[in-house]
Amino acid sequence: MTAPLRTNEPIVVQVALGARTYDIVIGRGLLASLGARTKALRPGAKTVIVTDETVAKHHRAATEQSLAAAGIESSAIVVAPGEGSKNYATFEKVCEAIIAARIERADLAVALGGGVIGDLAGFAASCVRRGLDFVQVPTTLLAQVDSSVGGKTGINSRHGKNLIGAFHQPVMVIADTALLDTLPVRDFRAGYAEVAKYGLLGDAAFFSWLEANWQDVFAGAPAREHAIAVCCRAKAAIVARDERENGERALLNLGHTFGHALEAGAGFSDRLLHGEGVALGMVLAFEFSARKGLASAESATRARAHLAAVGLPTDIKQVPGGVPGVDALMDLIAQDKKVKRGRLTFILVHGIGQAFIENNVDPAEVRAFLADVMK
Ligand SMILES: NC(=O)c1ccc[n+]([C@@H]2O[C@H](COP(=O)([O-])OP(=O)(O)OC[C@H]3O[C@@H](n4cnc5c(N)ncnc54)[C@H](O)[C@@H]3O)[C@@H](O)[C@H]2O)c1
Ligand SMILES: [Zn+2]
Repeated sequence: MTAPLRTNEPIVVQVALGARTYDIVIGRGLLASLGARTKALRPGAKTVIVTDETVAKHHRAATEQSLAAAGIESSAIVVAPGEGSKNYATFEKVCEAIIAARIERADLAVALGGGVIGDLAGFAASCVRRGLDFVQVPTTLLAQVDSSVGGKTGINSRHGKNLIGAFHQPVMVIADTALLDTLPVRDFRAGYAEVAKYGLLGDAAFFSWLEANWQDVFAGAPAREHAIAVCCRAKAAIVARDERENGERALLNLGHTFGHALEAGAGFSDRLLHGEGVALGMVLAFEFSARKGLASAESATRARAHLAAVGLPTDIKQVPGGVPGVDALMDLIAQDKKVKRGRLTFILVHGIGQAFIENNVDPAEVRAFLADVMK
């Protein structure tokens, strides 16, 4: 199914944060307007594009053309693709390159890539000259629905994921859905886990819509734009109410405590992509909730069935090469930043679309649950 030719205006979702309010602009072919939009936002600014080798191959030329057509000077910093680039060495390289490119406070960094580039470039932007403004041009589904919005930036520590970072909001997000046409299906699917997450955590009607229409989202029909806009609206609303995750924003971590432990257990390698870890983590969160009598077994079955239907892993045994044992996973869960005084915080559910924050989970209960599912 191909997308019909449309003359529709792009969808604009505003993230309302007072003086730091910004727009997420969603639509097919938007990259061509990056230059004009940047110029309108910040006349006279020059830009530095931060990207990875794979994204550069597909989309660097068009990005540079768009900026040049608006008379905007740009240079580029290209890093290796993959989670491994969210490390100190690459962070240093990016910071030094931004300074070498003579990017100053009135200029802009442009993060062109997936969540890895957005997190890395955004964190570098938050540090260089004590804070440069930056534009997000997300090129993966995951980045368009999640990581490019909300201002969480950072890199990984040897102790765990995203432990070094800052809140630093972009000044604009340009989500060109056509850029996803070059994304390998496995990465698209991993990003889809975060799309399903919005339904599972707070929007049962959206989850039902996804059950019926997910194939169109994959095919790139207008359904793709619709799904991205629903996710961005949900995230924008949550971030506007709780920018620094003092409360409600934690709901966006549904599936992430289990997921991060599994990702770490797989060595942050391509054995288990972030979104795949999240899919597994969400299934575990539903099953753990059902086991505690908080949610029906039927809701857990339904969550699992949909994720499995799109081809996401829903059973720990599906991780190639396996994951560490229960003790190692419990250590990884305890190192996650959501631990307070020996009790664990998990996002649990009362059903589809009904997630809540439980910050008094007994580690022994989690251990027993994991031991059972890993049997
Ligand atoms: N900041 C946040 O709020 C937030 C939220 C969710 C996830 N994240 C982070 O996002 C990261 C995962 O993001 P991701 O899944 O986008 O990973 P990624 O950035 O590594 O991209 C996945 C792969 O796709 C390639 N790629 C990207 N765009 C492409 C395109 N258009 N065509 C072809 N190939 C393309 C990349 O080179 C990479 O190999 C994790 O580090 C996770 O922690 C952050
Ligand atoms: Zn995530």
